[in-house]
Amino acid sequence: MVSEEKIDKFKEAARIIKSAKYLVVFTGAGISAESGVPTFRGDNGIWKKYDSNVLSLSYFIEHPEESWKAQKEFFDIILNANPNYAHIALAELEKKGILKSIVTQNIDNLHQKAGSENVFEFHGTMKTVTCINPRCMHKYKTEELDLTNLPPKCEKCGSVLKTDICFFEENPPEPAKSLSFQEASKTDVMIIVGTSGVVHPAALLPVTAKENGAKIIEINPDSSLLTIYGTTDIFLQGEAGEVMKKIMEEME
Ligand code: APR
Ligand code: ZN
Repeated sequence: MVSEEKIDKFKEAARIIKSAKYLVVFTGAGISAESGVPTFRGDNGIWKKYDSNVLSLSYFIEHPEESWKAQKEFFDIILNANPNYAHIALAELEKKGILKSIVTQNIDNLHQKAGSENVFEFHGTMKTVTCINPRCMHKYKTEELDLTNLPPKCEKCGSVLKTDICFFEENPPEPAKSLSFQEASKTDVMIIVGTSGVVHPAALLPVTAKENGAKIIEINPDSSLLTIYGTTDIFLQGEAGEVMKKIMEEME
């Protein structure tokens, strides 16, 4: 039985979203959990299985094979993953002109697979790789690579290839980073879905939105740092799919 108080929060959230002038949604790994993509933190998180070092730039340069082994396992999962209801609902809100943009920390391309068009990939993408030789930097589509021998090498110059995701010790890619902060400054309503809020500078996006007077609605089964530090105005506790379903029903 859903409590009266919880129903009111959903009604309030739906009302705010419907009246938004520039709705921006900020997503993390949690929105893809129901698509079978593991999150990074939490009980079954990737960082329980791998040392997060495997995705740090210095480790990649020293041990490209080890880093690629971990990435390939993750790559195989996301290559076969499908968008879930939450991704699809956000794409629907964009088609209706209610949602203006999505800023995602995810590299799984599931928002685009669900049909979302205005997506800023704050931590880059697994879709492409780049040759690390600064005099070459040739790009390839990851799915066209032969990943039997790791690390994959550039056909043009023989150097190691690096996925176009933002590693630890790297700055988020431009122009996605600057454009994402512009979105956070423009929005009057930001929905946060499935992020622990621990990684910077991404976690500053909701803070920037809040500082510019935006209403912050958060969807997560657990509290995040954004909940704890009071960035969130309305906390809708639950999984992305079930909460988005309730919001879409309230908006009808
Ligand atoms: N629906 C909504 N949220 C969920 C769900 C779900 N079904 N399942 C888990 N979550 C929440 C967790 O409670 C947690 O708050 O998703 C969040 C996942 O947190 P992280 O694993 O830390 O993912 P994220 O916040 O996206 O990590 C940020 O860290 O390792 C780097 O570059 C990586 O982009 C990533 C960044
Ligand atoms: Zn090259």
